[in-house]
Amino acid sequence: MAKSANLTIRDLTEMKQRGEKIAMLTCYDATFASVMDEAGVDIILVGDSLGMVVQGRETTLAVTVEDVAYHTQAVTRGISRTFLLADMPFGSYHDARTAMENARHLMVAGAQMVKLEGAGPYIEVVDYLTRRGVPVCGHLGLTPQSVHQLGGFRVQAREDQAAQQLKQDAEALREAGAQMLVLEAIPSQLAAQVSHALDIAVIGIGAGPACDGQVLVMHDMLGLGGRAPKFVRDFMSGQPDIASAFKQYVEDVRSGAFPAAEHQY
Ligand code: KIV
Repeated sequence: MAKSANLTIRDLTEMKQRGEKIAMLTCYDATFASVMDEAGVDIILVGDSLGMVVQGRETTLAVTVEDVAYHTQAVTRGISRTFLLADMPFGSYHDARTAMENARHLMVAGAQMVKLEGAGPYIEVVDYLTRRGVPVCGHLGLTPQSVHQLGGFRVQAREDQAAQQLKQDAEALREAGAQMLVLEAIPSQLAAQVSHALDIAVIGIGAGPACDGQVLVMHDMLGLGGRAPKFVRDFMSGQPDIASAFKQYVEDVRSGAFPAAEHQY
């Protein structure tokens, strides 16, 4: 039987325009990917969180492009509908040419888009990539690759100046050609303003219900992550199996039942 077509960035942007919420999860292998695909998950992120939940490290910093490419290839074999996004690891996009070579590697592995953290010096990297046919997703707020600079995994942009900076960074990423944005661990009100201001899909994790979609790390939402951050809900709770937990997640993101007040900053 012919493989049905995966969602495209146009489909996801149109979902935003129609006000349909987008359900995204991280995933690292073919088996879980096929269960997510079946459950209606719209986007799979092969996140560098794999360094923590798959490799057992304290941070994402040691993850390599090869690691992400390996897991991206595995995920491609499990999906037929889901859009596939892959993370650019720490140090893999510090200059434009290096970023291009590493993004190419991830796209050859099956990624439909690559995600990188931050703005500032990376705006020109995003511009370079997008002008050369690489679709890019930005990531602002709590950027885990900067964990040591931030002094831990903590909520960002609570103060007015930091909030203004984040809004400017989001606009700059969009102007540089980014076609999607992840906002992590920031006040809901700020995330709402960014989501309304941009014409691209804004996906939140600990960023409140007004984002165009939500993402969680798979292990966290299955209750496997140990002590999880405030923004995580254990979707395995009360469910008979993992497929049902993924379906519940999709349903609750679509309906707006997740995130609830207790998952917000
Ligand atoms: O690596 C990852 O899993 C991520 C999500 C937390 C958005 O970047």
